[in-house]
Amino acid sequence: MNNQRNLQIYRLWAFVYDAWIPLLYGRARRRAVTLLDLQPGERLLIPGIGTGLDLPHIPAGVSIVGADLSPDMLAKAKAKAQNRDVTLLEMDVQVLNFADDTFDAVLFNLLLAVVPDGAAAFAEGWRTLKPGGRAVIFDKFLPEGAALTPGRRLLGRVLRSIGTDPNRRLNDIIAGTSDLMIESDEPSLLRGQYRTLLLRKKVGGIS
Ligand SMILES: C[S@@+](CC[C@H](N)C(=O)[O-])C[C@H]1O[C@@H](n2cnc3c(N)ncnc32)[C@H](O)[C@@H]1O
Repeated sequence: MNNQRNLQIYRLWAFVYDAWIPLLYGRARRRAVTLLDLQPGERLLIPGIGTGLDLPHIPAGVSIVGADLSPDMLAKAKAKAQNRDVTLLEMDVQVLNFADDTFDAVLFNLLLAVVPDGAAAFAEGWRTLKPGGRAVIFDKFLPEGAALTPGRRLLGRVLRSIGTDPNRRLNDIIAGTSDLMIESDEPSLLRGQYRTLLLRKKVGGIS
């Protein structure tokens, strides 16, 4: 997967995303946002915001920045951002244009299996999170310890062609981050192939 290919794939997804994705992920998405426990006045970053399906679930008074590579997906998000404190930016989330410690919370929904380098996208989002801030990841991963079987490789090839990789391991993505506490790790869809994690950034290296 690379950015150019993702731009092509998500240009097509933009036409049908809002018709299908809420049916598949609506409940899990609400759970992910609820876990963040967002409060009025807080700043939230949504890297890879897509068509903005998280926006209706976010409480009023939260200041939201959404970044995405795809102008087609962002155009759909714009319609959902009306009358809300939402800033939408066309940006590669593997190299975020924000200072360290900017946001109170970061929401990684269905992103880390999509960007070319999931670890880079996670590290960048994490860098912009304030100490004490929290992040939620909702995505599918290859279960830790599970073998990459031929069937799973084939599935990977099929799903990568439509813009997502089911064969990444969460540990590989978050391994480079030392100031991180996993507060919860819930199995979600497809018997735990999807997971929802709440992470907190340690303050001054102390949990
Ligand atoms: C599966 S969609 C998820 C969208 C949204 N987070 C959601 O939960 O519905 C993945 C999104 O990641 C975006 N994306 C892919 N690579 C990216 C990159 N390098 N930088 C920013 N966004 C990227 C795609 O354009 C797409 O909108």
